[in-house]
Amino acid sequence: MASPRPILRPLSHFRCSALRPTSSLTRTSGITPVRQLSSSPTFSAPPTPSPPSLSPSQHHQQPPSASAPKPKKPLTPAQQSFLSSALRVNQAGELAATLIYTAQTPPLVAREPHLRPLMRHMYDQEAGHLRTFNTLLASHRVRPTALYPLWSALATGLGWTTAMLGREAAMACTEAVETEIGGHYNGQIRTLLEMVGQWEAEGYEVGEEFRELIATLRRIRDEELEHLDHAVEHDARKAQPHWLLTGVIRAGCRGAIWVSERV
Ligand SMILES: [Fe+2]
Ligand SMILES: [Fe+2]
Repeated sequence: MASPRPILRPLSHFRCSALRPTSSLTRTSGITPVRQLSSSPTFSAPPTPSPPSLSPSQHHQQPPSASAPKPKKPLTPAQQSFLSSALRVNQAGELAATLIYTAQTPPLVAREPHLRPLMRHMYDQEAGHLRTFNTLLASHRVRPTALYPLWSALATGLGWTTAMLGREAAMACTEAVETEIGGHYNGQIRTLLEMVGQWEAEGYEVGEEFRELIATLRRIRDEELEHLDHAVEHDARKAQPHWLLTGVIRAGCRGAIWVSERV
């Protein structure tokens, strides 16, 4: 079979190691909870010497014996493709989030100065998320979305428009965006945990970097859902018409996610 595309080779850094039972993945706040697995990642040592090639033929090496150190399983091309798409769309989403808050804050805070600390807090967390994915894209040589300029313009426009409509509309925007993003991160975490579960069942180890990635996604997912809670607490659901505003924004988010995973 063909070897992986060169741009994806650095994702071979992600490999698996043994899992420890952990608590739950679930958060509520309107987001469908991630299915709980019996094992979940907490991460161990960085990738140690392991098979250098990602050739699919290596995926079917003989299973390790119980007494031998567990080998690490190379990512399949499909798994590399999934991870590339995931990192690319996450970075685009976090860029959009920072721009939404940047555009919302001046008109919103001018009318309601007490919201300044909240807006600052949410912006700071989004900026941290963006830095995280910028670093991951660079270290794994994943290209950013080609539609960066389009998403930037749309996010800025969305932020400014909803803020001009008032606090309720601005918060409804956050509610809608974070509902979609929380579900999006949950889906990624679920897929990665399924990969980990399969590796564990086959007797392979999970690499430190892969475990760290899942932990990072969980942390960011939880912070997004905090934003959703803040928005609801600040009257997001009093926006008129709430159903239309959040419906349009959520549909736009889903479209942007779908496109950014591919382009
Ligand atoms: Fe974020
Ligand atoms: Fe957020």
